[in-house]
Amino acid sequence: MAIERTFSILKPDATRRNLTGAINERFEKAGLRIVAQKRIHMTEAQAGKFYEVHKERPFYGELVKFMTSGPVVVQVLEGENAVLKNREIMGATNPANADAGTIRKDFAESIEANSVHGSDSLENAAIEIAYFFAGCEIVG
Ligand code: TYD
Repeated sequence: MAIERTFSILKPDATRRNLTGAINERFEKAGLRIVAQKRIHMTEAQAGKFYEVHKERPFYGELVKFMTSGPVVVQVLEGENAVLKNREIMGATNPANADAGTIRKDFAESIEANSVHGSDSLENAAIEIAYFFAGCEIVG
């Protein structure tokens, strides 16, 4: 299996409830290595562009507002099959549909405040990583 890098965000509902360590523990226990990490407060422009693919969806405005409502932790996770593995650890977008033992099942507050973001493809992972990190900030 290939060693991949994926992009992850610990969302404002997670930082607000001091869940950074608890969520990171899930990644590390699953064999994903945190090779870059920083705490930032996204601007509206930054969050708006990041979620641009959802621009026409009814939840877009609220989503951008939520993602800028507090600090987030942006991360690069590295490991075997990292993109898919992270999606599995995260669980379904809506915590009501997420499998037992997933991050969203255990921590998410709602479909919007669902604690984590994770890239959905290797191609998007590369784009999202480059959006937030310079190459020299990623140490594998
Ligand atoms: P999406 O890319 O569909 O899900 P995922 O984060 O699992 O890849 O949606 C992006 C985010 O948009 C999602 O994490 C939370 C928010 N969202 C809503 O607030 N309401 C919704 O109905 C959907 C589908 C998403």
